[in-house]
Amino acid sequence: MERGIFVAFEGIDLCGKSTQKKMLAERLRKTDCFVHETREPGSPLIELTIKIRQLIKEYNMDSRCELALFFADRAQHTQLVMELLRRTGTITLTDRQWASSVAYQIFGRGLFGEERTLEERLADFFVFNDFFSHGIYPHLNILIDVPVEVAQARVRDPKARTRFDNEQINFHQRVRNGYLQLAQKSTKGDWLVFDGTKKAEKLHEDVYQKFVEWLKNKKEEKE
Ligand code: TYD
Repeated sequence: MERGIFVAFEGIDLCGKSTQKKMLAERLRKTDCFVHETREPGSPLIELTIKIRQLIKEYNMDSRCELALFFADRAQHTQLVMELLRRTGTITLTDRQWASSVAYQIFGRGLFGEERTLEERLADFFVFNDFFSHGIYPHLNILIDVPVEVAQARVRDPKARTRFDNEQINFHQRVRNGYLQLAQKSTKGDWLVFDGTKKAEKLHEDVYQKFVEWLKNKKEEKE
């Protein structure tokens, strides 16, 4: 039985989601919540996934191989999440999850057939994703939305650069558009969309308030 809460932070590269995840985690810990922070790819708690993350970041590869590695990472990660979900009162915050695969591999790379409808492509994707993620999905997706030009004007630590940073601007635009479509259709669970152009502190305040409100409703729903 699921007792905990699973939340994913999503958005294009340099949207600010990692900072927001950290700020929310720290704020929630002050209110005595039991918070775990993870990420995909490469949860810091799972050595194997850190190696998968290195493979993804370092090697140029076929898009299907890329997606297969994200699924491999997800299988290990969601196994850990399942364990955390059994514990009452735990809140697990992940930096990226399944929606990143849809945004980057389906919208960005064009996997599952660009000529097909989004519904058809998603239906195929979810067959794989359900399997690799043990059927686990975040209860809430927090999308930090930012125009690609704004994100690209931000400075990335050169050590943290990945192959994805070298993609053309249209790639990142397709990814952003993908996220917005998922959020608009409330695909798999709830979505909250935030304006990522705001200053980190102000944005955190918005994220915190909306999250607390969402959590209250969720608890009432469960009772
Ligand atoms: P990372 O350094 O974690 O980037 P970020 O800090 O922006 O999350 O690199 C992960 C990259 O992998 C990122 O560009 C998004 C991409 N990605 C996918 O393409 N598909 C996926 O399913 C996931 C989880 C990530």
